[in-house]
Amino acid sequence: MRKPVIAGNWKMYKLVSEAVSLVLELKPLVANANHCEVVVAPPYTSLRSVADRLEGSGIKVAGQNLCESAEFGARTGEVNGAMLRDAGCEWVIIGHSERREFSSENDALVNAKLKAAMKTGLRPIVCVGERLEEREAGRAEEVVRSQVTGSLGSLTPDEAMPIVVAYEPVWAIGTGRTATPEIAQSMHASIRRFLMEQFGNKTADLMRILYGGSVKPDNIKALMAQRDIDGALVGGASLDARSFAQIVNYPG
Ligand code: 13P
Repeated sequence: MRKPVIAGNWKMYKLVSEAVSLVLELKPLVANANHCEVVVAPPYTSLRSVADRLEGSGIKVAGQNLCESAEFGARTGEVNGAMLRDAGCEWVIIGHSERREFSSENDALVNAKLKAAMKTGLRPIVCVGERLEEREAGRAEEVVRSQVTGSLGSLTPDEAMPIVVAYEPVWAIGTGRTATPEIAQSMHASIRRFLMEQFGNKTADLMRILYGGSVKPDNIKALMAQRDIDGALVGGASLDARSFAQIVNYPG
């Protein structure tokens, strides 16, 4: 059984006071959500304040990125895995398409960040997803296959098993244009096949694959009804406690 993960990626939104208000409102709304793991990913500046407010709740905290070096050192502007742990994170998002686009992250760097995360005991959510022109050119599967194999390269099945993969088609992010449940399911099934080729059936069967891209309270149920969709990585709708709680509480 794969336990669903519902994660909110706050991107570059929320000052500390706003972040604190959001989680204080969210906490009681998802207090009974035992059917899934709930994660929020505030910007670096709010991590500690949010983690303090969430202590003892079931909600876990994620970083949105980390440095590929697990060491301490002269890397101005960078934050390593140990610092994220120290700020209260258990999880980290790696290789989000916005980082691939605006910070030139490629699969090799994503793979290095993944290894740094694992070294520091963070639970990684690795993002993949094709751009619109790649889908229109019929290359979506090929692009995602190479992101999956490149980003998760040279890991053993045991190392790969706890990694969460998030499929976020770039054309569905922030556009209100969600992939239909059928399109999402079809790519998720392909991703699981790529994971099987790389790590074997047993491991791939246990790995969770999240969908991200305009997930809202009104489409979560249909997405979660698909057999290979094991949760969601939510952007815009996670910035509002009620809408994120509705997404978390999708079964009832
Ligand atoms: P939206 O839910 O705003 O489309 O963002 C998705 C996303 O990028 C989550 O990481």
